[in-house]
Amino acid sequence: MTDIERHAYDVVVIGAGGAGLSAAIEAHQQGAKTAIVCKSLLGKAHTVMAEGGIAASLGNLWPEDNWQVHFRDTMRGGKMLNHWRMAQLHAQEAPDRVLELEEWGALFDRTGDGLISQRDFGGHRYARLAHVGDRTGLEMIRTLQQRAVQLGIDVFMECTITQLLAGNGRIAGAFGYRRESGQFLCFEAPAVILATGGVGKSYKVTSNSWEYTGDGHALAVRAGGTLINMEFVQFHPTGMVWPPSVRGILVTESVRGDGGVLRNSEGERFMFNYITEYFKAETADSEEEADRWYEDKRNNRRPPELLPRDEVARAINAEVKAGRGSPHGGVFLDIASRRSADYIRKRLPSMYHQFKELADVDITAEAMEVGPTCHYVMGGVEVDPDSQASTVSGLYAAGEVAGGMHGSNRLGGNSLSDLLVFGRRAGTYAAEYAASLGGDRPRASEEELAGFERTALAPFSEEGDENPYALHKDLQDLMQGLVGIIRTGEELKQATKQLDEMKERVRRVTVEGGRQYNPGWHLALDLHNMLLVSESIAKAALERQESRGGHTRDDYPTADPEWGQLNVICREADGGIEISTQPLPEMPEELKALFEEK
Ligand code: FUM
Repeated sequence: MTDIERHAYDVVVIGAGGAGLSAAIEAHQQGAKTAIVCKSLLGKAHTVMAEGGIAASLGNLWPEDNWQVHFRDTMRGGKMLNHWRMAQLHAQEAPDRVLELEEWGALFDRTGDGLISQRDFGGHRYARLAHVGDRTGLEMIRTLQQRAVQLGIDVFMECTITQLLAGNGRIAGAFGYRRESGQFLCFEAPAVILATGGVGKSYKVTSNSWEYTGDGHALAVRAGGTLINMEFVQFHPTGMVWPPSVRGILVTESVRGDGGVLRNSEGERFMFNYITEYFKAETADSEEEADRWYEDKRNNRRPPELLPRDEVARAINAEVKAGRGSPHGGVFLDIASRRSADYIRKRLPSMYHQFKELADVDITAEAMEVGPTCHYVMGGVEVDPDSQASTVSGLYAAGEVAGGMHGSNRLGGNSLSDLLVFGRRAGTYAAEYAASLGGDRPRASEEELAGFERTALAPFSEEGDENPYALHKDLQDLMQGLVGIIRTGEELKQATKQLDEMKERVRRVTVEGGRQYNPGWHLALDLHNMLLVSESIAKAALERQESRGGHTRDDYPTADPEWGQLNVICREADGGIEISTQPLPEMPEELKALFEEK
């Protein structure tokens, strides 16, 4: 065994986005010796891609907004598959978390009366997204990061965790390496919080950056945990489509929230043709009515561009397929003809610069070309709704890596509030658990560490013929083509077969050079995680024989009430993913009653 750098903590948080930072701040405040370990530089997280705002029923613009309405919107957006308790806690606690963030220094945009301004987003009955222009996630990260640094929390940057120490079903810590030097690391800790975000890099077109390879999902499964509802992947309706080098970069939903409309190549505002029965009552069915809503939201129905994301992404996909797409395979998003240049530059400064600099498009004068991009996974580690504890003692998960909160589809803006609410909860309960153990802490075994080291070094010694970049490209093509927005049983079967072949191929991946500055080696290790989450998504998607939220089956085009009562569970068995189903937890009567109210 080579030298391993060793550290000991009460709580180790893996990931430094909104959930990781919130969890670490809270664990530290509870008195736990806490460390954050992150793959990238501090402050670089997918949280910044939640641009448009944080959903919270502050009631600043609409006094009739409250947690009950937010809860109801969230459940309806998730097509009732959300864990009701998570959705309840989220809606109840989001306003306090936003105010806390403000106390810590976040500078939100204001209303004329000096209150925190709130913006409209799809699926939210009232304007309830607290925002900072179109850079809300960035402001949130800046604030949390500053707080964590002020508190003196230890941060290990540019470190990848490859394995959890989990002998005898209890967490003992985490093993990984420094990305720059290749130096191996062992963190001994009785409580580990996964806050690693999503899985987008398994797809070809995605808003996710290189870090999002499903590490936390894979770590949890390998440690004996379970994943829930992995079939639900969110394709944000509006990513950039041109030029090719920027395809997939997010175009915030705020463009539509602030009045932007979608048109096809014939100039038609096509979303009116895609209003489903489920949302008919609250959606305007003519341009006149939709436009009146901007003037008088109380007495008019919402524009169809503000339907939940799954509905809008499917509609765009259908228009492109029908030959009514834009020149580069998207549709047109037009705010230029609807709002003044000053308004656009003030409300959407990042979008203005993004299009100007990356695509040479002036969004105050011309329409943007946009199309769906893989943005978020609703599925994740199965956790207890109150504590965020996984099924493995000492292992917690918060934020995108945790499942259950968003059901089959997440409403825009609900992720930033999710990160704050459940990050804090995970921090509280992980610290409490670590303290409760006293001296009875599980210890890392030297044999386990030696095994992890051998696994991490395998790509240097294997006699193989596979290149990690070629395998990654093949995986992305497969997931995009066969496990994308629209799926069929036949395609999903093909996908699982090809994924089995890729699992053979990944064992033959070899890399050249040494452990220092070796991105090929990093990718070779990340590929194991991407394959595990891809197999989970494909198998769960094959299992669920219905269409719901972010899972559309061409061969089962409608939602099935029986499937609406079931969660799909993934666990590791015989080197692969085994699928089972379990009933949804029963919602209490007083919450059920909320769905009967108008
Ligand atoms: O469109 C957006 O600004 C993204 C927000 C989110 O994913 O919550």
